[in-house]
Amino acid sequence: MRKLALYVSHREIRVISLLAFVLLGVLSACSDAGLRTTLPAPIPLTDINPDPNIVEVQLVAAPASKEYLPGKAAAVWAYRDGAKPGSVGTVPGPLLQANQGNLIIVHFRNELPVATTIHWHGLRLPGNQDGTPISQTAIPAGGTYEYRFTAVDPGSFWYHPHIEGNEQVEKGLYAPFIVHGGATLNTAADRYLVLDDVKLGGDGKLDEKVDPLDVMLGRPGNVLLVNGMQGGRLEVGSWTQERWRFVNSSNGRYFNLRLPEHEFYIVGWDGGLLPVPYVQDSLLIAPGERYEVLISFEHPPSGRLALQNIYYDRGHNVPDPGPQDLLEVIYGPAGPPPSPLPTVLRKPSTVPFNSKTLVRPFVLKEQEDPAGGAANFSINGQRWPDITPVEAKSGAVEIWEIEANPEMDHPFHLHGMFFQVLSVNGVPPVVPWGWKDTVNVPRGSKLRFAVQLDPPGRWVFHCHILEHAERGMMGELVIR
Ligand code: C2O
Ligand code: CU
Repeated sequence: MRKLALYVSHREIRVISLLAFVLLGVLSACSDAGLRTTLPAPIPLTDINPDPNIVEVQLVAAPASKEYLPGKAAAVWAYRDGAKPGSVGTVPGPLLQANQGNLIIVHFRNELPVATTIHWHGLRLPGNQDGTPISQTAIPAGGTYEYRFTAVDPGSFWYHPHIEGNEQVEKGLYAPFIVHGGATLNTAADRYLVLDDVKLGGDGKLDEKVDPLDVMLGRPGNVLLVNGMQGGRLEVGSWTQERWRFVNSSNGRYFNLRLPEHEFYIVGWDGGLLPVPYVQDSLLIAPGERYEVLISFEHPPSGRLALQNIYYDRGHNVPDPGPQDLLEVIYGPAGPPPSPLPTVLRKPSTVPFNSKTLVRPFVLKEQEDPAGGAANFSINGQRWPDITPVEAKSGAVEIWEIEANPEMDHPFHLHGMFFQVLSVNGVPPVVPWGWKDTVNVPRGSKLRFAVQLDPPGRWVFHCHILEHAERGMMGELVIR
């Protein structure tokens, strides 16, 4: 990982651009690009409120149908826009977007055959709007509910159920959420790419059989999806710079992204923009995490260019399947050249901890079943819901030390507030002072983060491998 000067310059290689263009034309004409389908962008929910400071939407969760494989319909559960006559459920669900400071009102209708809730992953909001079974009563089948909160922080978020998340999210209930605001990045495009995987049978239907390995790894799928599509195609403007927001919405897959010959200028994390961007050739995204990157499309790609998922060793000797293509990227006609980034993306701020700050240990463990059944998961030896809540006074600053068992990594998520990673096994991160709500804890390591426990309420923290959370790896934090 390299540190980057405060703005990403546009390399002056226009001399060769004409040649590259001609070459590119030939390459894309030879490829199978014409057969692929353009990647869909998430469709925004209809704002039914004329007040520019209020975003008011109608959201429905209902059974729907989805062709993961062309011509083969699968039964899914999906969100749809209740304000649009005739709307159908999509996977991922419709985009909820607002400006920083807007009041958000969601009129939700549950048309599923089971109870559900909606958790607004990453948003700072009142404790009773957090959408977990301890912050509200579940919304029964056929029931309605109104969520109401203010969009405090600009950033890339997402929403999903928080009851039987392992089942409900896997069936298709997850959707992107953007709060606009903060520094303006003048990019040629601003895209949200939602990453997921599904386990499909030959008939194209979701394979609902869950074996012990599925529980261990979070139902690894055999089909990788970007915005609900396998093998989509995306055209970018040559010589432009784009902003891509990623969320890993899968139950348990680790995505390790690479775009050959291109670099990721990482400008934001879960909690919005970073003070200083940094550059990497690959980008690991654990379940639940978000990253915002800038990509400069100023290299003539040689042959076929694909956004790939490459191997990451998450533990349990998961074999390397080799690079897997997620998306084909095609260079199109030249677009507007990139403009310099603002010198400061965001004012750095830090959690005010010191040497006397309380360090609270959490040990994440898996307990394999000697009889070969599915494993159980625990935090500090306790399994949700049979746990003793952590209690704190509003405003308390703490250091949380999360220790992962030696067998595998766990992405740790805390609801309701952001934290700052201090160290992994004592080693400070290369990029400090970014805000996270979900962080990967590498197996066998101790990760420390500092957090100010501000918002009163009952909050959960858990592993975002949803099979682990639902099988015990979840705790409660009560702030008074
Ligand atoms: Cu994305 Cu507790 O959840
Ligand atoms: Cu886990």
